[in-house]
Amino acid sequence: MNRILIVGSGGREHALAKCFHKSPTVEKVFVAPGNAGMRDVATIIPIEAMDFEKLISFSKEENIDLVFVGPEAPLSNGISDAMKQAGIRVFGPSAKAAQLEASKSFAKQLMNQYDIPTAKHVTVFTKDEAMKYLSSHPSPIVIKADGLMAGKGVTVAMDDQTAINAVEDIYREVAYGPLVIEEFLEGEEFSLMAFVNGEKVFPLDVARDYKRAHDNDEGLNTGGMGSFSPVPFIKDEWVKEAMNNIMIPMAKAMVDQGIPFTGMLYGGLMATSNGVKTIEFNVRFGDPEAEVLLARLLTPIDQIVFDVMDGKDVNLSFDPRFALGVVMASKGYPLNFEKGIPIRNLDDLGVDVCHMGTDWDNGWVNKGGRVLFVMDLDETLEKARETVYKEIARIDAPGLFYRSDIGRWKEEHV
Ligand code: AMP
Ligand code: GLY
Repeated sequence: MNRILIVGSGGREHALAKCFHKSPTVEKVFVAPGNAGMRDVATIIPIEAMDFEKLISFSKEENIDLVFVGPEAPLSNGISDAMKQAGIRVFGPSAKAAQLEASKSFAKQLMNQYDIPTAKHVTVFTKDEAMKYLSSHPSPIVIKADGLMAGKGVTVAMDDQTAINAVEDIYREVAYGPLVIEEFLEGEEFSLMAFVNGEKVFPLDVARDYKRAHDNDEGLNTGGMGSFSPVPFIKDEWVKEAMNNIMIPMAKAMVDQGIPFTGMLYGGLMATSNGVKTIEFNVRFGDPEAEVLLARLLTPIDQIVFDVMDGKDVNLSFDPRFALGVVMASKGYPLNFEKGIPIRNLDDLGVDVCHMGTDWDNGWVNKGGRVLFVMDLDETLEKARETVYKEIARIDAPGLFYRSDIGRWKEEHV
């Protein structure tokens, strides 16, 4: 029987905890640092995700059989390397391999070297260089700050002024540093995740994420405001193409570079009129994609991870029904938001909830920007959507907001 430690504290980690908890071969699930809402399925350990030393001592004391790392930051800071050195089994890439997410220019360089389709791009290092490039490349255009300027993220500039403003913002804080400017891709966006070990790549079903804060894809880019899976309008042939041209070639490229990847590989992909192209790679489960995918995963996750790590082949089996979920976020998110907002009527809902950023203070309150993920599994997407919106309306939390158009794909894809 397996003893599992999940590292992280959001909705993805709650979904992982639920998934490990339901496996017949899992004895106990711990989450560090977790959040109060995960107590239904896990023991919460107050150790921060970046405190590798304490996580290692804890894993030894508790005879942890597997550490599963949720978020990117500990990975790119070397949690897997540290755990491995201490003799603890960990699922997640090394710091070197995690550059695939941490550094956009590293990812682009590899994609170009191995002919992995992605948006055309340039990397510039100064404001003058960026402005010069923009003057000959009109909008729509996409501006991506690299790891060095983390937090500035991505601007999809539909007009020239937005592009100029984004460049100015970035170089106001740092005079010199890599900035990726890339071609705007038009098409259907989808998230494809896979369990990877070296050249072996085992994909999950496709999920759809909603990145923008508000309805009709308006507002700022966020971590994701809702998701569903499977995605009827993403064709099987696009997924095959993505596997053959993007996911497998990237796994092979990493091996070829001497930095083999072990962990979850996430392709943020766009099916364009010129084929499927890569928007970005992440080195972990997407959030909130993990919540809907793990709700549908029928194969015990600990067995998948151990088999993948042992170099065996695995068959992933999924519930054919539709999982759909909506994020409730604190007003103001993804910018400044309030903490400590009371949330009532949470415990008698007729749907599943993943806690993304809650705390318990004589009642539920929020401590994160994204607070709750309200989710249902049903025969049709429409039914799942109806149930989720009916139940979410019963949650009494006037300080939170949510999108009302998650899963309205019929209207978008007639
Ligand atoms: P990223 O952080 O790279 O995932 O970018 C955030 C979001 O911006 C993506 O999920 C896309 O919706 C959008 N985006 C990023 N790059 C492009 C691109 N080249 N063309 C169109 N949209 C993009
Ligand atoms: N939902 C997108 C991500 O996790 O990056």
